[in-house]
Amino acid sequence: MIILPLFDNFAGKQGQKKGDEMMRALLIELSRNKWIARRVTKNGWACRMARRFVAGETLEDAIGTARRLNSEGLAVSLDYLGEHAQGREAAHCAGLTYLRILERIANEGLDANISVKLTQLGLEVNDDLCEELITSLCVHLRDSSQIVRVDMEGSAYTQRTINVVKNVLQRMPSIGIVIQAYLYRSEHDIEELLKRGCRIRLCKGAYREKPNIAFPKKRDVDANFLKLMKTLLASGVYHGIATHDENMIEATKDFVETRGIKKDAFEFQMLYGIRGDIQKKLVHDGYRVRAYVPYGTEWFPYFMRRLAERPANLFFLLRNL
Ligand code: FDA
Repeated sequence: MIILPLFDNFAGKQGQKKGDEMMRALLIELSRNKWIARRVTKNGWACRMARRFVAGETLEDAIGTARRLNSEGLAVSLDYLGEHAQGREAAHCAGLTYLRILERIANEGLDANISVKLTQLGLEVNDDLCEELITSLCVHLRDSSQIVRVDMEGSAYTQRTINVVKNVLQRMPSIGIVIQAYLYRSEHDIEELLKRGCRIRLCKGAYREKPNIAFPKKRDVDANFLKLMKTLLASGVYHGIATHDENMIEATKDFVETRGIKKDAFEFQMLYGIRGDIQKKLVHDGYRVRAYVPYGTEWFPYFMRRLAERPANLFFLLRNL
């Protein structure tokens, strides 16, 4: 196959870093292409590859996976895949699907919450519609210990996402947000959100951002992640530390041990299909771990972001072709 030597060249010792960066940028760019998405999601081998990261296409698939993970000691966050809903009807449909998921979680007694993207719930249509839909999900959880976790999308949506979450938080405590360590603004955002007692999931960030708003170098993102992790865990609010990076995980464990923070005062969070070995080990060692379990037919952008995080996944995929 002609394309492989080309990628191997990229991955050669000298140009590896640059090649990975270019590949990452390309994959994130392609993740937004609807034409490619339509073709790839109809392709049998691509569907099989995506199953590594996605529980399946139906709610039954997701519930079955959640049940299994719960039995292994992991809590779960279910994500009905989809972003950038076109119009009010699509946003309402996504809202109804999430209500059905919450009902199933309650009926089955699962240790699970939901993760939602605000552009799937109409953020691009109208902020009020989005707030109304997210509020209806939080109302459903009023008497439960679970929360609706609002994922963080690209920087074009950061401020609006924070605004919606702050507004809802004034009326409902059952909402949490995600903050990305790669953004310069995150330290300030965390400060503001903590004043309101908001539960935060800290992650590194999965989109492609310009160097004027985000740390371009991995070592700076990692350093900021550690700084923010410490602020969060010292706050006394229950947060999620979302990473598969063993250095970040070890540093978190060291920090809580030194500060005498209890293992049940926070949770580690990881993506379904990535570093299951670490997930099991942490559970075994008495830490709380939540697996993020996505399902649905709109898996293409999510799948591309997972490939972009680790271009070796793409080489593996192409080699298998
Ligand atoms: P890093 O990228 O440094 O990877 C550390 C190690 O983890 C790698 O060496 C590899 O072993 C493994 N790994 C990481 N990604 C992998 C992959 N795709 N395939 C195989 N192995 C991989 N982002 C965002 O912008 N908004 C959000 O709302 C969320 N939500 C979210 C929830 C949860 C529970 C998690 C764990 C992550 C997110 N993310 C996210 C994604 C996050 O921003 C980030 O892109 C990934 O977690 C990868 O970063 P790591 O912290 O794992 O470190």
